[in-house]
Amino acid sequence: MPFTIAIDGPAASGKGTIARALAARFGFHHLDTGLLYRATGAKGGDPIAAARSLTPEDMARDDLRSAEAGQAASKVAAIPEVRAALVAFQRDFARREPGAVLDGRDIGTVICPDAQLKLFVTASDQVRAARRAAELGADPAEMLAQLRERDARDSQREAAPLKPAADAILLDTSDLAIDKAVAVAVDLVLSARKST
Ligand code: CDP
Repeated sequence: MPFTIAIDGPAASGKGTIARALAARFGFHHLDTGLLYRATGAKGGDPIAAARSLTPEDMARDDLRSAEAGQAASKVAAIPEVRAALVAFQRDFARREPGAVLDGRDIGTVICPDAQLKLFVTASDQVRAARRAAELGADPAEMLAQLRERDARDSQREAAPLKPAADAILLDTSDLAIDKAVAVAVDLVLSARKST
């Protein structure tokens, strides 16, 4: 049976970096599920039709990482039919051998409730805003306001809100350099593999 790692958390918490590092370390496939919502928002038109007709080209656009694409993603992600259209692709991906790492908002709660390891990665608002501002070359104060708006929308929506699964392990990266955070996550995978 493939080994599935579910990683959730708010914007710029470090979940994507940890997910990529775990996939490389264990030879697993990696899916950044945020890109599905970013591509849906960026496609324009009716978001439900956009989600149902996503193509690999839509996912490869080079403007998906922008702050605007993040805001658009969070708006379309609140629509239940958009989320429903993306479930099967994510679940199929999670079953790929020898294992898969998926990061997003609802992986441990909705997409892969049976994942062998669930992490909920957080960091303080200020740390997250500073990281994302450095990544995008944006103003930290403006970034902080944007992230808070997006987190509030993601946490308060009815459809698959951002929240830790009951059995998720919390990993706060506020005071952890990225290599330390990855090392902690690697140890968690090693012990989860022993016990499954
Ligand atoms: O990288 P960052 O954490 O800023 O954002 P992302 O993971 O690319 O996600 C962009 C937006 O997509 C989020 O703000 C959520 O609204 C939505 N999303 C979601 O609803 N469910 C997921 N599994 C992944 C992303």
